[in-house]
Amino acid sequence: MEKICVIGLGYIGLPTASVFAKAGYEVVGIDVNEKVVDSLNKGKIHIEEVGLPELVEEVVSKGKLRASVTAEKADVFIIAVPTPIHDDYSANVDYVIDATKGIVPFLEKGSVVIVESTIPPRTIDDVVAPIIKEAGFDPFNDVYLAHCPERVLPGRILIELIENTRIVGGLTPKAAKKAADVYRAVVTGDVIETEAVTAEMSKLMENTFRDVNIALANELAKISARLGVNAHHVIELANRHPRVNIHLPGPGVGGHCLAVDPYFIIEKAKEESPLITESRRINNSMPDFVVEQIDRMTAELDKPALAICGLTYKGNIDDIRESPALEIAEKLRRDSRYDVRIHDPHVRDEQVSFPLASFKEATKDAHLLVILVDHNEFKSVDEKLLLDNMKTPVIFDTRNCLKTADDTNLTVYRIGDLTKLSAIQEEPVSE
Ligand SMILES: NC(=O)c1ccc[n+]([C@@H]2O[C@H](COP(=O)([O-])OP(=O)(O)OC[C@H]3O[C@@H](n4cnc5c(N)ncnc54)[C@H](O)[C@@H]3O)[C@@H](O)[C@H]2O)c1
Repeated sequence: MEKICVIGLGYIGLPTASVFAKAGYEVVGIDVNEKVVDSLNKGKIHIEEVGLPELVEEVVSKGKLRASVTAEKADVFIIAVPTPIHDDYSANVDYVIDATKGIVPFLEKGSVVIVESTIPPRTIDDVVAPIIKEAGFDPFNDVYLAHCPERVLPGRILIELIENTRIVGGLTPKAAKKAADVYRAVVTGDVIETEAVTAEMSKLMENTFRDVNIALANELAKISARLGVNAHHVIELANRHPRVNIHLPGPGVGGHCLAVDPYFIIEKAKEESPLITESRRINNSMPDFVVEQIDRMTAELDKPALAICGLTYKGNIDDIRESPALEIAEKLRRDSRYDVRIHDPHVRDEQVSFPLASFKEATKDAHLLVILVDHNEFKSVDEKLLLDNMKTPVIFDTRNCLKTADDTNLTVYRIGDLTKLSAIQEEPVSE
């Protein structure tokens, strides 16, 4: 039975290591973070993922999975370390470089090396292969080097790791075949072999496709605000065309994939990627657009009270990385014209540098409730509570997620439908 070494035990590496261990492989997980290693060796995990605690406990107790801070000899090495962007939007592949350097002392002729981290095009050819060459191996003949990107959805990782189609790009066709066979042992979806650079680009284009399409919807929302059109209605009707699928506008694009991966392409082919560049710019401009609409809605009020609901980059998760909602909340907090209260049922106090309020506290005497994330908790609201609690029962739904009754007494503006927008006015206090 083969031995697998998985480098990086985060949201991708740990489930991957566990799935191979469950399939009977001897797996050792490597992480630079000693706490992660210590807790894994006790059968405990440090991340949230459905089904993972039970699986890890099982494979660790059976001796199939263990962790270490340094790599060791194995037949297969899978690298799943972070690939963030620098402040200037260039890719940071330092973790991939360090992880590769960490395994080269343990390589042998015939070793399989797979990078799962999302990487800029040509990273396998121009960055990883030269490190292996420097260590005295011929990367084209002595080892089997490949890129196999991940496309799992948090919350469904253990299912999608098995069922999704996998793209395996080898430095050589033989490397692609050897790496693909590693996955074929556990994956029920298709495992498709290609070249490394094609696999790198296909992963990046998946997320870029979504980013560009969201930018188109966001541009439509801005055009609609200018022309007095209901963009949600336009999208609904246009999507009745059998070959049209316009995405939904929103307050921006966040997270560590969609808001990051397009920059990996832009960096490598700037002149040729004006559409991708502009889409990033449009999506990055949405927090300002939201703040401008809040400004228009509250123009008549002196120190309007805002109940900001939602901070994460998407609904029903606790992740605030690159979150446009967080950016909007921080912009409003810094603006002394507003009294800002912030609520997110999925975010813990220690994740943010400002106080969090309960929904009731946030909406108490508020003039405007702003929904920034489509958490299930915000898809319907207690109308009576808001009518009793808020000073003016007005909602700005930037995710088009709130369902209200037809005869609602709440005023609801949506990001794509600002046709009836008028400034909120407080009722004069009767004598
Ligand atoms: N999380 C997702 O949903 C997802 C989806 C698709 C692709 N990806 C990509 O997968 C890669 C990993 O993402 P993640 O979410 O698992 O990251 P993560 O931050 O959850 O985990 C990465 C782990 O790697 C460890 N690490 C860093 N440098 C190391 C080194 N030199 N040696 C050993 N360990 C090291 C860190 O301590 C950390 O525990 C990234 O390239 C990401 O873009 C992630």
